[in-house]
Amino acid sequence: MAKPVLLVTRRLPPAVEARAAAEFDARLALSDQPMADVQAQAQGADAILTCPGDNFDAALIASLPASVKVIATFSVGFDHIDIAAATKRGIAVCNTPDVLSVATAETALLLILAAARRAGEGERLIRAGRWRGWAPTQLLGVGAIGRQLGIFGMGRIGRELARLARGIGMIIHYRDVARLPPALEGDATFHDSDASFLGACDILSLNAPGGEGTYHWLNAKRIALLPRGAVVVNAARGTLVDDEALIAALRSGQVGFAGLDVFEGEPRLNPGYLTLENVVLLPHLGSATVAARDAMGFLALDGIAAVLAGRRPENLVG
Ligand code: DGY
Repeated sequence: MAKPVLLVTRRLPPAVEARAAAEFDARLALSDQPMADVQAQAQGADAILTCPGDNFDAALIASLPASVKVIATFSVGFDHIDIAAATKRGIAVCNTPDVLSVATAETALLLILAAARRAGEGERLIRAGRWRGWAPTQLLGVGAIGRQLGIFGMGRIGRELARLARGIGMIIHYRDVARLPPALEGDATFHDSDASFLGACDILSLNAPGGEGTYHWLNAKRIALLPRGAVVVNAARGTLVDDEALIAALRSGQVGFAGLDVFEGEPRLNPGYLTLENVVLLPHLGSATVAARDAMGFLALDGIAAVLAGRRPENLVG
């Protein structure tokens, strides 16, 4: 029997491509960049495996051939896919939850420590040949251990970050649409208002999904509710942050330090960040470990196979 045709829109880790080629009639991509002609490449395809940054908007989805039954994204976030448009076309959508939670939480913790301890500034000092030796007042940070960490978005990644942060003595606060059941909440403190939550954040970590509901959640009004000098990190989606407001706060000292792995409109970012010493910038490395990326690919392929076999996969989002 002929294998189903799978269009892969980006180069993927070797183990994932090998499995895709073994199980499907796979049209593998040669590039790390988004595919320009998805609609043409998808002719005759049963399934598409895509990535964040590939914009599957209503127009693209409407133009896909009727053969396409499922789109899987190599990510937990699916804000780059118009789910309603896919549903209207009868196309299932799958993502890759859970398997990247540890890696992404690790990146958030990395940003917390790097921002609070000024690691980016220290690295730049040495590389620029400007380091003159140890000095009692050099690059004094604020530390993270024993301080209050506020997690906005206590889903899988937020809870994983809470687990790691507890391990280094941080005190966990969180804000979400609803309070978690006790088994998931543990000793974390739930806040039902922005004012009480943000007021408790020595360090604020954004871990909520992107999309309309969280667009520019961290704006000037909410930043003003943080204690002066707070640390802000974002390993979720750039769209959660009003960049102009955060840049102004980093300049005024209302936010002491920031660590950002994601940016609205990435790979372009607001040039204001590049003028600031007190921000650590990473190129969307959240889930970038070999183990996490392999597992993400395998889960996406599992979802595609299930849909094509007429089963409902656990990683179905629409
Ligand atoms: C995701 O999965 O949504 C990340 O942003 C990429 O790993």
